[in-house]
Amino acid sequence: MDSILVKGNGPLNGAIPIAGAKNACLTLMPATLLTDAPLTLTNAPRLSDIRTMTQLLQSLGTEVASLQGGQVLALSSHGLTSHTADYDIVRKMRASILVLGPMLARDGHAIVSLPGGCAIGARPVDLHLRALEAMGAQLDLRDGYIHARAKAGRLQGAIVEFPFVSVGATENALMAATLARGTTVLKNAAREPEIVDLAQCLRRMGAQIAGEGTGTITVEGVTGLGGATHPVVTDRIELGTYMLAPAICGGEVELLGGRIDLVAAFCEKLDQAGIAVSETPRGLKVARRNGRVRAVDVVTEPFPGFPTDLQAQMMALLCTADGTSVLEERIFENRFMHAPELARMGARIEVRGGTATVTGVERLKGARVMATDLRASVSLILAALAAEGETVVSRVYHLDRGYERVEEKLGACGALIERIPG
Ligand code: EPZ
Repeated sequence: MDSILVKGNGPLNGAIPIAGAKNACLTLMPATLLTDAPLTLTNAPRLSDIRTMTQLLQSLGTEVASLQGGQVLALSSHGLTSHTADYDIVRKMRASILVLGPMLARDGHAIVSLPGGCAIGARPVDLHLRALEAMGAQLDLRDGYIHARAKAGRLQGAIVEFPFVSVGATENALMAATLARGTTVLKNAAREPEIVDLAQCLRRMGAQIAGEGTGTITVEGVTGLGGATHPVVTDRIELGTYMLAPAICGGEVELLGGRIDLVAAFCEKLDQAGIAVSETPRGLKVARRNGRVRAVDVVTEPFPGFPTDLQAQMMALLCTADGTSVLEERIFENRFMHAPELARMGARIEVRGGTATVTGVERLKGARVMATDLRASVSLILAALAAEGETVVSRVYHLDRGYERVEEKLGACGALIERIPG
């Protein structure tokens, strides 16, 4: 298992290109199952999660060509050879559940392994299943698999009210609704940019969708969808992550392709903390105004609130802020595993249930730390950039799921960072 060595260094200066969104690509790829026409995704990120989704789709019979070094994915599901998403692949990545809705909508049946939990929480899929049942699916859970079939041979439009916001359940239901008979209304739907991106791609394929980006999405089912070419939206979580690098180290970094609308709530918090964010013709520029970062309180919420996927990274910034910050994690039940690792670097963090209280210290100290999940791993790297001495982050396979070429991107701005093959 590889590790990453970081030597605390001074301010960062330069430009970092932001890739296409992992969490958009992971729902756009299964959309190929809705049609036998070609679906081409451009601006695709080069990540291990994308390779896992590729493997899963290929196991169903989808042809996937990875072109231009992985930035273009050409998918074609003109003839599925299987409707079973096997545990061995699903257990590696929860987003695998997103093949259920499309397969059910197109062919009326599917067998999908229940995804296991993961480090940050149990992460059940009950909302996915309830939405599909409302649309006329018969679901039998046995031997760890969801055995699904459309009772009337084809899903039926329905009014689906989610008891709380779920990104994945919204995505599964939205894809399923495009081929259902009649009208589907998704209420209390997720509003994330990745949902908007999916709706735009489905519309290019011929779907009749209105309201994406709001809490109510209305879909008129059609009898078939065509192909499309669609650019994956910019990754707002990678964007926010790298915006924190100059915030933590000082200096000035331009994030190429960055869009302020994707990270508005996050930018508000940066502004309160004393970080200047400005728009440029190529994206966003970030610099620490002057002196020490100020402590701020953070509450994670569904979009457009502060994203849970930036909570760990924000905590890395607040570890050396002037004052005490309180971070409340409202989306996942166990998403503070980076806290004890940051404490090994000298951070002062007290975790009680879903709340972490961070008392800022002048400077962290390098240490050997361990990545526990995707976003925790990158928060440790951010903390190490300005820490005194050397930090070694182990188990960086977590990192490779969601960040391409971290050492290159940060190294190009002056960070002393290298990968140690393990
Ligand atoms: C998506 O996960 C993202 N993953 C997550 O990003 C992100 O943290 C999350 O949305 C919230 O924004 C992908 O898009 C691949 P949810 P998802 O359904 O869809 C509970 C990353 O770091 N819930 O919105 O699984 C669930 O346990 C990853 O890139 C149910 O109880 O998130 C969680 O507590 C991590 N039943 C909350 O709802 C369900 O049926 C929100 O989950 C579904 C979810």
